[in-house]
Amino acid sequence: MNVDKNPVIFIILAAITILVGTLITTFIPLFAGITAVSTENIRPYTALELEGRDIYIREGCNNCHTQTVRPLPFETARYGSYSELEDSAIDRPHLWGSKRTGPDLARVGTKYPAQWHYMHMKSPQSMYKRSNMPPYPWLGDRKLDTRYTAKKMKVLDYPFPGKDAKDLDGKTEMDALVSYLMRLGKEVKGTP
Ligand code: HEC
Repeated sequence: MNVDKNPVIFIILAAITILVGTLITTFIPLFAGITAVSTENIRPYTALELEGRDIYIREGCNNCHTQTVRPLPFETARYGSYSELEDSAIDRPHLWGSKRTGPDLARVGTKYPAQWHYMHMKSPQSMYKRSNMPPYPWLGDRKLDTRYTAKKMKVLDYPFPGKDAKDLDGKTEMDALVSYLMRLGKEVKGTP
């Protein structure tokens, strides 16, 4: 029998092949535990970092920035080693993103001092004249809303109140965002 002369048989065989392939590539990693990652070495978010992350989400930063370095030579040359499961193991939700109008931020915390971020967030154009990133100066004037911090930390299972609970006193939204940015790339304990 010539399979490609019989469309019905061909479709059935193609469907079976794709189905088997999908099942194997989905279920073997799922049950072999390859996708489960230990969070033992991950530094949990501090209260301030978590609030900063929420501001990052609220302001839609991930519409322009990814947080995942792909294993391609030109990416690792620019951004550092490629992202691994551990890097976003405690992120709920992850912010890998898919749009890269601006650079990837997965490791930006190891790139600049905090003061640079304060100036850049206030006016990206003061750092890069032709930057098309919008400025966010008002974040520096808005007091951080900490009413739900403890609740969020509890739901996400991060330790609270840790010694960092008092870090929140008198902080602005800008402080929280910068503290979050300074953490990116330092998820694994012991990263300088
Ligand atoms: C309209 C797209 C856009 C949005 C929205 C945006 N950015 Fe950017 N961002 C850029 C571009 C383009 C650059 C590169 C030029 C520059 O540094 O200003 C950049 C650069 C950066 C850098 C420096 C990265 C590096 O490696 O030098 C950081 C940090 C950053 N953005 C953080 C943020 C944060 C935090 C937000 C949300 C509050 C945000 N961005 C929103 C486009 C955007």
